[in-house]
Amino acid sequence: MTTPTIELKPSANPLSAAERAGILANPGFGRHFTDHMVTIKWTEGRGWHDGQLVPYAPISLDPATTVLHYAQEIFEGLKAYRQPDGSVATFRPEKNAERFQRSARRLAMPELPVETFIEACDALVKQDKAWVPAHGGEESLYLRPFMIATEVGLGVKPANEYLFLVIASPAGAYFPGGVKPVSIWVSEDRVRAVPGGMGDAKTGGNYAASLLAQAEAAAKGCDQVCYLDAVEHTWVEELGGMNLYFVYGDKIVTPSLTGSILEGVTRDSLLAVARDLGYEAEEGRVSVDQWQRDAENGSLTEVFACGTAAVITPVGTVKRAGAEWKQSGGEPGEVTLRLRQALLDVQRGTASDAHGWMHRL
Ligand code: COI
Repeated sequence: MTTPTIELKPSANPLSAAERAGILANPGFGRHFTDHMVTIKWTEGRGWHDGQLVPYAPISLDPATTVLHYAQEIFEGLKAYRQPDGSVATFRPEKNAERFQRSARRLAMPELPVETFIEACDALVKQDKAWVPAHGGEESLYLRPFMIATEVGLGVKPANEYLFLVIASPAGAYFPGGVKPVSIWVSEDRVRAVPGGMGDAKTGGNYAASLLAQAEAAAKGCDQVCYLDAVEHTWVEELGGMNLYFVYGDKIVTPSLTGSILEGVTRDSLLAVARDLGYEAEEGRVSVDQWQRDAENGSLTEVFACGTAAVITPVGTVKRAGAEWKQSGGEPGEVTLRLRQALLDVQRGTASDAHGWMHRL
């Protein structure tokens, strides 16, 4: 695999410091984008080429471009954090790069070298460093690397051309309520992914498949949908865009990676953070009936969702057909908040980085 260099073509017209400050004061999630983006092409027989860092702008696609028809697309999400000394660091970018390669394999796309993925993210963050929110708050710079099939044609086959891009968006809390507990609708009929399918790949199709169930959750008054496994409709898998953790006193449990669950970087990091803090942390199977029973008998003390975008968000209310219950009295649980703080402290550079997770730019 060749590693292209990234040629810099800076914007002649970046947003003014005052406009940027206005956005950073209340960035929301995924609503605003920085001044630049990275693009790298892949062509069969030539490999990766034409790496560029260019002004953020629309891209033009032929209406017959394959990604528009057959959804050959993958993406990632990672964050850059302002450190106490004003420098910037990203969190475990190599984990995202490796998952991007696994997603590429699953969707019959070319694998971007890990070092090129990291170099592309670094180049964009360095160029748009002024967009990384100030140290100390909830905000960070969310990076969205993605790849699309760009061959023109309607034949159903792996494309012979691809475009890799990285864009960046200043991000506050994913849920408008911040760390306020979210409510969950457990869908017992719709499924997110099937064994042998694409559930463990980060591809737009999985998120498109989640939208109807997510709308049904909203109609039930809930913030997020929770999926069960596709075969027995029994075992808890994940939410529409994040993983789940169950807290039993001093033990935390997250659903095992069965092939239909996304291997979240935050999910993985929390297994280690929890052990560092003296909790037992394991992967296992939790059924929806066990969830309800253990919540009702009090042994299941807390539940939380986690993901790059969502960080760690407590679960307050859970609804399923014919039942509704509260987790930790509907309030953020103590273990949830402790884990959240411990992870954020590492990401923001206020705690020691015992696992070497921070990638300084
Ligand atoms: C992330 O947490 O980075 C995600 O990809 C979830 C969602 C915003 C799609």
